[in-house]
Amino acid sequence: MEIISNISEMKQWRDKGERIAFVPTMGGLHQGHLSLIDLAKKNADKVVVSIFVNPTQFAEHEDFGTYPRTMDADLVALEVSQTDLVFTPNVYDIYPDNAVLNQDEFTQDKGLFETLCGKTRPHFFYGVLQVVRRLFEIIHPDVAVFGQKDYQQLHIIKHFTSGVKIIGAPIVREHDGLAMSTRNQYLNADEHKIASKLHKILKQIEQGELELQSARERLQRYFELDYLELLDANTLKKITDNTSKIAILSAVYLNKVRLIDNIIFSKDNYV
Ligand code: PAF
Repeated sequence: MEIISNISEMKQWRDKGERIAFVPTMGGLHQGHLSLIDLAKKNADKVVVSIFVNPTQFAEHEDFGTYPRTMDADLVALEVSQTDLVFTPNVYDIYPDNAVLNQDEFTQDKGLFETLCGKTRPHFFYGVLQVVRRLFEIIHPDVAVFGQKDYQQLHIIKHFTSGVKIIGAPIVREHDGLAMSTRNQYLNADEHKIASKLHKILKQIEQGELELQSARERLQRYFELDYLELLDANTLKKITDNTSKIAILSAVYLNKVRLIDNIIFSKDNYV
């Protein structure tokens, strides 16, 4: 496994002409990330993983400073998972002139950036898109794999990047159903148990056992509710007669730890 930090070296490596699948990460790797790498391998000759904690997707009051940085363990996990190359750029090379994303391009689609997670984290998707586009520009992958846990992120990346095939990978869950996330490290054992209720409640909605409003009330027993919505999975807008897939999407806080989860299912199966 090669490790490259330098952008021109990265570009040179890329010139070899193989089909590249790319998995962008912020490190703090867990089984969920490793499942993205497995999927990437099936779609290309070589797999490139980046590790870069992207400052532009954190607001000032968020956890950029304390976000888990576990480079040594990450590199071991990547070696075991037979990653071909790890790209570990520094912030000055990613943002040489401190450029921020020009949001004018998205005026028409502002709604998509500022709904759901974007309501409480208005900076977030602009920051994600900025770094993903920059990484694509450096790595020129054929394919990139993103987790479906961040469903709105996946949706925005599919819509606002071009030239790279975007693949969404299924959510990987802990034994109790909690969606795997680097931020799960912030939870103690009791909190972890409570956190697993999020998925259980979403499941009850999917199975027609809980109406949306009752589910919101149920979530509020355990969490500070950010949102719980039932939307068209293809547009992230209201369900209509043309909806084929439904997305149940939620974000909650448990003692300041933000948890997100979703279930996507066919409208035909909705009772
Ligand atoms: O999902 C993540 O880990 C990040 O948002 C990403 C896509 C690596 C961009 O920093």
